Amino acid sequence: CGIIGIVGTKPVTERIVESLKRLEYRGYDSAGAAAITAPGKVERRRAKGKIRDLEAVLSAAPMTSTVGIGHTRWATHGKPNEANAHPHTAGRVTLVHNGIIENYAELKAELKAGGRVFESETDTEVIAQLIDFYLEAGQAPLKAFKSTLDRLTGAYALGVLIAGEDRLVMGARRGSPLVVGHGEGEMFIGSDALAVGPFTNKVTYLDEGDYVAIDHDRAEIFDASGTPVERPMRVVAASAALVEKGNHRHFMVKEIYEQPDACQHTLTAYVDPVTGHVSAPGGFDFASVTRLQIIACGTAFYAGLIARYLFERLAGLPCDVEIASEFRYREPAVTPGTLAIAVSQSGETADTLAALRWCQAKGLKTAAIVNAHESTMAREAGMLWPTHAGPEIGVASTKAFTSQVTALTALAVAAAAQRGRIDAEEEKRLVRVLLEAPRLVGESLGVEEMVQALSLEISKARDVLYLGRGAMSALAYEGALKLKEISYIHAEGYAAGELKHGPIALVDEATPIIVIAPTDELFEKTVSNMSEVLARGGRVILITDEAGAAHAPAGVSVIIAPTCDPLIAPLVFAAPIQLLAYHVAVQKGADVDQPRNLAKSVTVE
Ligand code: G6P
Repeated sequence: CGIIGIVGTKPVTERIVESLKRLEYRGYDSAGAAAITAPGKVERRRAKGKIRDLEAVLSAAPMTSTVGIGHTRWATHGKPNEANAHPHTAGRVTLVHNGIIENYAELKAELKAGGRVFESETDTEVIAQLIDFYLEAGQAPLKAFKSTLDRLTGAYALGVLIAGEDRLVMGARRGSPLVVGHGEGEMFIGSDALAVGPFTNKVTYLDEGDYVAIDHDRAEIFDASGTPVERPMRVVAASAALVEKGNHRHFMVKEIYEQPDACQHTLTAYVDPVTGHVSAPGGFDFASVTRLQIIACGTAFYAGLIARYLFERLAGLPCDVEIASEFRYREPAVTPGTLAIAVSQSGETADTLAALRWCQAKGLKTAAIVNAHESTMAREAGMLWPTHAGPEIGVASTKAFTSQVTALTALAVAAAAQRGRIDAEEEKRLVRVLLEAPRLVGESLGVEEMVQALSLEISKARDVLYLGRGAMSALAYEGALKLKEISYIHAEGYAAGELKHGPIALVDEATPIIVIAPTDELFEKTVSNMSEVLARGGRVILITDEAGAAHAPAGVSVIIAPTCDPLIAPLVFAAPIQLLAYHVAVQKGADVDQPRNLAKSVTVE
């Protein structure tokens, strides 16, 4: 899941470990490193579990070297154990890999038929075996690498060492990102800018199909056809300092607290506070489209669901929202005039990217709302509509989510104005409301104590239900996702009106029901739903505002969030549900920033 490679002049092992720690946020279940420890000699160390387990292996059996590669693995093919951990070795070749090789079974059969012996079940080993096969056939390292890449179907980012090539690290990308880092007399490859962040902020992003050979003083990049190419070097902002935890115990809570800033920074790209105008960055006329199709995965999908309420109600613009992995394979009927919007923190999620490409192939206009502005989606989409959350390290998305909701809310107001659904006065009013959001999101963090007080009780539950109406139903889904991701408590989000059609059967005194309901025109209906729960002995926790608290039925625990305009309620009510999940997870002693089995950025299907 994370890759680092270094050709240096100083010892590398500790620095490989340092980089892997930076990559921990992506989620992983084993880690490993390999280094050239003497002319012609490659050694490797691997461990199941955390980076500290790898560190223990390395301190028991150190490697001294100035050239090496490292990897954190999130299991796809084969169990998360030491034997399946990267690097993988075959003959002279040792390599690390992100992604999935789809034709690995055929390649493996072919190589086995030729007498090659495999030691793991992974698709990655097939790549190492294939490079070694071409080396044995007399090809030079770069030629053998290219011959191998030409045979692979699927997605990969690779980092490769070859015994006998003592100053060489090779890398390649297809479907999974890879960057080259330019240091002082040292060169790096990494799975993203954060991987090389501890050493340099000068990076070159490889294009699809590119491969690269680095020595300590140069990088030679080739495109998929083998032609040498120049790719621009950029100075990135993701400095090492940005990914420190500061005074916070976990990245997740740090990032929850960064939401007022993230919201503010994102708004700046969409709203002009002087003119009171709101527009898509780069300019886009929503009157020129007849329909929106939002595609996303996970938390970003829920941001999309919230947006649907806004685009349809405010702008009268039909808006469909679909999970990317379904959309891409379902052969959806698309109508001309549709704008497809991919929403993604990383800009690399394989399903979302594939769905975006599918829309482009159908000739649709496309936009990507992404937080990683150099990512594949950012580069490939017709329009880049950025969020400015800064690097998000916690696997459970928080500030990236509210930044997505911020951008989408601003866009919905822009669409409403451009489509003549609101007049200039109303646009100005809604812009004022938008500009209040950072402050109110900040105030909503004030619920932390109330939430913390309830967390012990919730941490004992086996199941938790989240309910909401309108855009708050999407927040209910997101609340349930947050809780299950980091506390491992089973949770479901439901539209409150749907309670009586099934989930009410789950209601008993052991199942907390969390109701997200600011006072709006639907509040009374939600009160009825709460009464239905209470009448059956259920336990209700209501997240509402002052006025809502005053109307809460007896017996309900109330968490009071700031009063706000309905436009920004999804933003203001996000922090309470995030903090609730966080404190429940802390109560349970769970690994908040790196929940089991989850990855931050899923670049496989
Ligand atoms: C993974 C993460 C989720 C995230 C989803 C989409 O599953 O664990 O937190 O919401 O991917 O990621 P994206 O980068 O496309 O927003």
